Amino acid sequence: MKGVILAGGSGTRLHPLTRITNKHLLPIYDRPMIAYAIEALVQAGITEVMLVTGGTHAGEFLRLLGNGHEHGLDRLLYAYQDRPGGIAEALGLTERFVDGDPVLVMLGDNIVERSLRPTVERFCADPIGARIVLTAGQDPEHLRSLGVPVMDASGRIARIVEKPEDPPSPYAVTGIYCYDASVFDTISTLEPSGRGELEITDVNNAYIAKGSMAYDVLDGFWGDAGESIDAYYAVNDFVRTHGANRG
Ligand code: DAU
Repeated sequence: MKGVILAGGSGTRLHPLTRITNKHLLPIYDRPMIAYAIEALVQAGITEVMLVTGGTHAGEFLRLLGNGHEHGLDRLLYAYQDRPGGIAEALGLTERFVDGDPVLVMLGDNIVERSLRPTVERFCADPIGARIVLTAGQDPEHLRSLGVPVMDASGRIARIVEKPEDPPSPYAVTGIYCYDASVFDTISTLEPSGRGELEITDVNNAYIAKGSMAYDVLDGFWGDAGESIDAYYAVNDFVRTHGANRG
């Protein structure tokens, strides 16, 4: 399985910090944010990764990560996104790297307490369609800034609503997604959303409509360190006290 880490975007919610660097290079406890996503993938057994970034600080990733060997990667490739056209647009840039293999996609501002290996193993056992990772226990106010699944009576995801006014379930969709190679066909059919982006939620809803979406509910802490300055500090506090990517 290949890995893709998305570290583009404009980081406006963390201005003015992100005027002088890329959000994913800001520290989480004792390491730059991006190091945690790389560690999560390596721990899950993924050693071929493409990092997508953009903006004026893209070169700093090369300076920090180089060829990735120090971080346990066999191959680290880079893609450059010209403008923040959305998570699905950023993923679309990796099509030739993924080259027909199953892929684990992780947003570079997501931090997890526990290993992603169980999800990767389940997807690799039957690498068709998509498998996404949900988290429980977020409060309703927080859910309004995330993707939230609508669950049907049999516990399947009926659809995902992005940033709902009225959250339809207590679950949030994290930025951790397993896809088969058909994801790139879906991305090529997407239209920009109201905010002018190709939305990952539209990709996930396409898999749900085809009946080929599975999910896991994450064990342990999950945080989106890019969501707000308070979320950034909450993730920092958690990692400083408990660590991250624990087996
Ligand atoms: O963190 C989980 C949430 O991530 C999900 O619950 C939502 O369904 C999903 O849409 C996403 O929401 P955000 O509002 O947090 O997405 P954001 O625009 O902050 O982008 C998340 C990451 O994706 C960020 O680390 C940078 C990367 N990105 C984003 C954009 C818009 C790119 O690489 N390129 C882009 O153009």
